[in-house]
Amino acid sequence: MTDQESGTRDTGRDGDGTSHSSFTAALLAGAAALGGFLFGYDSSVINGTVDALKEHFGLSGFVVGFVVSAALLGCAVGAWFAGPISDRIGRVRVMLIASTLFVISSLGSALAFNPVDLTFWRLVGGLAIGAASVIAPAYIAEIAPAALRGRLGSLQQMAIVLGIFAALVVDYVIARVSDGGATGTFPWGGGAWRWMFASAIVPAVLWALIATSIPESPRYLVKKHQRERARRVLVRVMGHGDVDGKIADIERSIASDRPVRLGDLRGSRLGLLPIVWVGILLSVFQQFVGINVIFYYSSSLWQAVGFSENDAMLTSVINSLVNVVFTLVAIALVDRVGRRPLLLGGAAGMAVSLGLLTICFATAPIVDGEPHLGSLAGPVALVSANVFVASFAATWGPVVWVMLGEMFNNFIRASALAVAAAAQWLANWVVTTTFPGISGFSLGLAYGIYTVFSVLAFLFVIKAVPETKGRELEDMDELAVPGARA
Ligand code: GLC
Repeated sequence: MTDQESGTRDTGRDGDGTSHSSFTAALLAGAAALGGFLFGYDSSVINGTVDALKEHFGLSGFVVGFVVSAALLGCAVGAWFAGPISDRIGRVRVMLIASTLFVISSLGSALAFNPVDLTFWRLVGGLAIGAASVIAPAYIAEIAPAALRGRLGSLQQMAIVLGIFAALVVDYVIARVSDGGATGTFPWGGGAWRWMFASAIVPAVLWALIATSIPESPRYLVKKHQRERARRVLVRVMGHGDVDGKIADIERSIASDRPVRLGDLRGSRLGLLPIVWVGILLSVFQQFVGINVIFYYSSSLWQAVGFSENDAMLTSVINSLVNVVFTLVAIALVDRVGRRPLLLGGAAGMAVSLGLLTICFATAPIVDGEPHLGSLAGPVALVSANVFVASFAATWGPVVWVMLGEMFNNFIRASALAVAAAAQWLANWVVTTTFPGISGFSLGLAYGIYTVFSVLAFLFVIKAVPETKGRELEDMDELAVPGARA
C-alpha cells in the first residue's frame, strides 16, 4: 500500500518487524490489558447477585438499578482523573493504585451490611474500573507500533470480555454449589452473592503483581526526560527499528502535548471541536444500544420472561462466550478492514437483532403480570440476543476503545480522552439505572429504544466518523472529520 492510499506518513520507525519484538509488545500490552479483565469482571459480577440483593436487603427494582449502576458513577470519576494523575506519577503507578482499589472494593462489597455501604464499595470499585478503562488503552497505544496498534488495542476489549465471561461463569458455579442457587448459602457459609463479589479479589491481586514487573510507557519516560530508560523500552518493543528516530518523533509530539484542559477542546461550531464530539458520540452510542443490559441484568431478565434460574444464568454465560468469540473476529479484522466499515456493519447487525428482540418482547403474552416468551418467540429472542452480542463484539465494543486511544492529536488527547471516557460511563449509567424502570413498564419499549439508537449510530458513522487505520499517533493532526471542518 502506498502512503497516499493508507493516508499515513511512513516514518519507517515501526520496528524491524521481528517476531521477538512484536511478541514483547504484545506481552506488555497483555499485562496492561489485565486491567480490562478486571473492568469486565467487576462491572458484570453483579449480574448473578441482582435477585439475591433484592431478597437479602428487600430492595425494589428501582433501588437495585441504583446499586447496580453506582459503580458506573465511580467509573466516570476514575476515568476523568486517571489521565492527569498518570501524567504526574506514571502509567504503572496508576495501575497499582487501581488494583488496590479493586481489592478493597471487592472485600467491602462481599462483607456489606446494608445497601448503603454496598453502594459505597461499588463506587470505590468504579473508581478503579474507570481508571483501568483509561490507563490500559493509553499504555497499549504508547507501547504499540502503529501497524499493530489496532490489534493490540483490541486486546483491551478482549480482556474486558474475558473478564465478563469469567465473572458470569464464576457466578454460575457459585450459584450451582450453593444451596438454593444465587439466593442461597455458599458451602463455606455466607450468602452466595457475597462470594461472587469476593471472587474479584483474585484477579485484582494478580494485576497488582504483574503491574510491578512491567516497564513505564516510553512516551511518559521521554516526557520526564528519562531518555535512556525510554530507549531501553523501545528497543524491547521495536527490535532494531529506528529507535532514536522514534524518540525524536515522540519528543517533537510531546512539545505539543497538553495536560487535561477543557478550554483546549473548544471549537467554533457546537462549542467543542468536531473530533471531540465524534469521540463523545462514539462513546454514547456504544452504550445506548443497550449492550450492558445484557451483561449486568441478563440472569434476572431471562428469568422474568419465563426461564428457570439455572437456564437464565447459563444463557448469560453463553451470551458472554459469544462476546469473547466475536471479539476475536474484531481483532483479526480491525487493522485490515479498518474502523469505519466495522462500525457500519456492526450498527446494521445490531439494529436488525434488536428489532427482532423488540418484536418478541412487545408481543409476548402477559402471565402473572410478566411477559412470557412462547415456543416461537423464545428461541427467536435467544438467537437474536446472541446475534446482537456478536454484532457488538465484532465491531463497536473493541473499535470504539481502539479509536478513542488513537483519534486525538497530542494537543487534545488527554483532555478529549477524559471527556469521551467519562461520557461513556455516564451513558452506561443512564442505560443501567433506567433499564429496570423502563423494562418493568415494557421490555418491548426498552429494546425499541435501543433499536432506534443503533439506527442513529449507523447514520452517525456515515456522516461523521473518520478512518484512523494505519496512522501514526504523531500524525493525528491531519485527521479530517467527514462532513465537518475543525
Ligand atoms: C465495551 C463497552 C463495555 C461493555 C463491553 C461488553 O467494552 O465499553 O461497556 O461492557 O464492551 O463487551
